[in-house]
Amino acid sequence: MSDLDLQHWRLEVDAEGIAWAILDKRGESANSLSTAVTGELAQILDRLDVYTPKALIIRSGKDAGFVAGADIGEFTQLDTPEKGRALVARGWELFNRLAAVKYPTLALVRGHCLGGGLELALACRYLLAVDEPSTKLGLPEVMLGIFPGWGGMLRLPQRVGPAAALDMMLTGRTVDAKKAKKTGLADDCVPPRVMEMAARQLVLSGQPRRPLPVLQRLLNGPLKGVVASGARKQVAKKARPEHYPAPYAIIDIWQKYNGNALAAPEIVDRIIRSPTARNLVRVFFMQERLKAFGKESDFKAQRVHVIGAGVMGGDIAAWCALRGMTVTLQDQSLERMGPALKRARQLFERRLRDPLKARSAFDRLIPDVHGDGVPHADVVIEAIFEDVAAKHALIAALEPRMQAGAVLATNTSSLRLEDLRTVLARPERLVGIHFFNPVAMMPLVEVVEAGGADPRMVQAACAFVRQIDKLPLPVKSAPGFLVNAVLAPYMLAAMRAVDSGISPETVDEAMIAFGMPMGPIELIDTVGLDIAMAAGKQLAGGADAPACLLRRVEAGQLGKKSGQGFYAWTDGKPGKGSAGAVPAGLADSLVRPLIERVEQLVADGVVADAELADAGVIFGTGFAPFTGGPLSFRDFQVKT
Ligand code: NAI
Repeated sequence: MSDLDLQHWRLEVDAEGIAWAILDKRGESANSLSTAVTGELAQILDRLDVYTPKALIIRSGKDAGFVAGADIGEFTQLDTPEKGRALVARGWELFNRLAAVKYPTLALVRGHCLGGGLELALACRYLLAVDEPSTKLGLPEVMLGIFPGWGGMLRLPQRVGPAAALDMMLTGRTVDAKKAKKTGLADDCVPPRVMEMAARQLVLSGQPRRPLPVLQRLLNGPLKGVVASGARKQVAKKARPEHYPAPYAIIDIWQKYNGNALAAPEIVDRIIRSPTARNLVRVFFMQERLKAFGKESDFKAQRVHVIGAGVMGGDIAAWCALRGMTVTLQDQSLERMGPALKRARQLFERRLRDPLKARSAFDRLIPDVHGDGVPHADVVIEAIFEDVAAKHALIAALEPRMQAGAVLATNTSSLRLEDLRTVLARPERLVGIHFFNPVAMMPLVEVVEAGGADPRMVQAACAFVRQIDKLPLPVKSAPGFLVNAVLAPYMLAAMRAVDSGISPETVDEAMIAFGMPMGPIELIDTVGLDIAMAAGKQLAGGADAPACLLRRVEAGQLGKKSGQGFYAWTDGKPGKGSAGAVPAGLADSLVRPLIERVEQLVADGVVADAELADAGVIFGTGFAPFTGGPLSFRDFQVKT
């Protein structure tokens, strides 16, 4: 086999006559299916057409996983419809060819197996999943605004039935090895130590694939229309076709073209080169950029100490324990920690499902009234009341008890780090690690650097944020940092609109139609009207508070937490009346102040560049991702 010219694959034949194709993409830590990689797989298949093996096993040579997907960098080069179609054809035809070979084939899947990687595995006769925490199988193309065009839309429904397949393809959700076996996606699920032996046995077994139950076959055949219309309704609840066309295209291609996108070139052209796909691919790369901030230091935290078990501190501590840290949580008394511990237990049960794992996460979260954890902590985060004197007293007492290299962080939203650190012997060590509420839901964390801060501390803080699986965004110390600073003028504009006589429902509907996850008035109710008022004082540049806000705050109507704000809240849901017709231009007039503030913050250097600002606003506020962020949206509008 040595005369094959392979850069990324190895082809070996073992004593039993089984060929092993091992993908180890050159120069990369994870495998992706670039043109070069699929080209070499075609060469391998050519070779095996001539020297037919007893069987073929495809596996990864990387520790990082099986295959992460197609090479997303190549998506940015699709500047003509022909290139888009050629990209689809490349994988579709190759995997059809693999699916049709006479000898038995098996994908040995350990670690992530996503997108094109799963489509490769689905084209094999057998799929053997290795049971370990990193094994995740899924078709997340929809999150990039595209569809699984390399056979996923054909083969996944055949394996797991159309409802489960559409659920995976329309949400991008992944399944682990055990679930893969249970749903029929994997033929078996084995522990790592026996995986090679199990792969050999299975591929030579001659065992037929588990057939889909009759009902599933009907749903994947004559009854496709029923499943498709149900799926369309589900999607419509979450995504408007003008914002997110890909999920609708996936349903159409599955239903009308049996998963073959090439039979619908019009859809391929429309989706692959849509502004949504371009922007979502950009968002993907922005996310990679944020992740990279965590790699600038080899700092690794094991123990975290959090002070203040309130709304934020309690949830920060729980999140860190969920992500594997040992956490000590301090407050003024054990009673004050009760609610935080209760929320933590619920978080662990919800996220970890397995009661043993939930139990050990709970064991890692240790109530610590006296702060005994401080000398052992790698990261200390204060999240007590927003009060300079209280924070001064606390951090001055903390500093001498901490390890020299440990990170000292504040979660403050509105106090100046420059003022807080005056009491420290080493003021340059204080950084901001600013989480958003609710901690478990919000992917972004701002890492705040005040002038003269020790860059190693800032880098260590970013590394810690990555360790707990959040996205660090470095920002300079300035009122509201990035996210709150841009939300303030947006919320103000929304409340001014209410003052002008437009109903809260109409204001919210305008922004939901724009693509926001939640309307600004509902957001204010959720955050709390008192907090919005305080933020407004700090961030609205001296503007008068809106009358609608003042009136409600004076009446003690503070929003969700008090049961009444702009809306009446029951069971955690706002009671909304009909929105009626949205006046033309309303959304633009609400979003404009936000965009202008982002421009200002970039100009002032609070965030390093426009792309990072867009990333911060998307991951910190949920700003409509299909737009690519506020500045990308502005540029698009200028062009069109
Ligand atoms: P909170 O009022 O819910 O909790 C504060 C907790 O700190 C209380 O449990 C209190 O008993 C405890 N505490 C006060 N002084 C203490 C001391 N000396 N030692 C030990 N514990 C003490 O406050 P919340 O909302 O969690 O805010 C905490 C910090 O997080 C503030 O700096 C705030 O600006 C910031 N923040 C708040 C956000 C929010 O949405 N609430 C979002 C992001 C940051």
